[in-house]
Amino acid sequence: MTINIILLGPPGAGKGTQARTLVEERGLVQLSTGDMLREARTSGTEMGRVVAEVMDKGQLVTDEIVIGLIREKLETMDAPGFIFDGFPRTLPQADALNDLLAGMGRQIDAVIEMQVDDTALVDRISGRFTCGNCGEVYHDQTKPTAKPGVCDVCGSTDLKRRADDNADSLKTRLLEYYKKTSPLIGYYYAKKQLHPVDGMAEMDEVGRQVAAVMDGIGGR
Ligand code: AP5
Repeated sequence: MTINIILLGPPGAGKGTQARTLVEERGLVQLSTGDMLREARTSGTEMGRVVAEVMDKGQLVTDEIVIGLIREKLETMDAPGFIFDGFPRTLPQADALNDLLAGMGRQIDAVIEMQVDDTALVDRISGRFTCGNCGEVYHDQTKPTAKPGVCDVCGSTDLKRRADDNADSLKTRLLEYYKKTSPLIGYYYAKKQLHPVDGMAEMDEVGRQVAAVMDGIGGR
């Protein structure tokens, strides 16, 4: 049995944080279009240059580019299940994902909607930093490293802040979310696939709510 889920929520809702737990605990593969695009922007190609410009402004990259990235992963990877993190973000992306999965004899089993207030998102985004080596996500207040400047997981000192984690870009990212991504909440609700979780709770409690959804769909 394969399990495929979507983590849906505004920027900073905690999608990446919960995806990492699901990878560790359930052996699923995380497909984050944000991570794929950050990799593409360092490629030195024309596409990478365009992607960097769009991301830094906080706008959405074109459907064509992100669907192409996801298609390539799905065509070349095998896994007991996928966690789609930050994808889909538009209705055309959602339709494309359904078609891609159907072509593989798979389907979306659950869409976990992480509900977080806008004011909390500002705090989360402005305090976030990640390990450049293993990708662990930290926060100045809610999840600092045990030893300042050193990753708890891999010991790397390459701790980074994202170029788009600033107030201007966040304003645009939130607008893009409400205009283009939030219609997906109604779309998946109508398909009876939506599972809201309280993203305002502490990380462990959010994890428990996500785990309950996974157990409910047989994702163990
Ligand atoms: P992307 O990388 O996907 O960013 P995002 O959706 O804005 O989400 P974030 O990664 O910012 O947040 P998150 O929900 O993963 O939160 P996290 O776990 O890190 O996309 C970046 C850009 O790429 C987009 O703006 C767009 O340009 C482009 N893009 C990507 N996908 C695209 C697509 N499909 N189509 C078009 N364009 C696309 O947590 C945030 C912080 O909060 C961390 O510090 C964490 O430690 C902390 N935290 C987490 N949970 C909690 C909690 N429960 N309580 C307190 N703190 C918490």
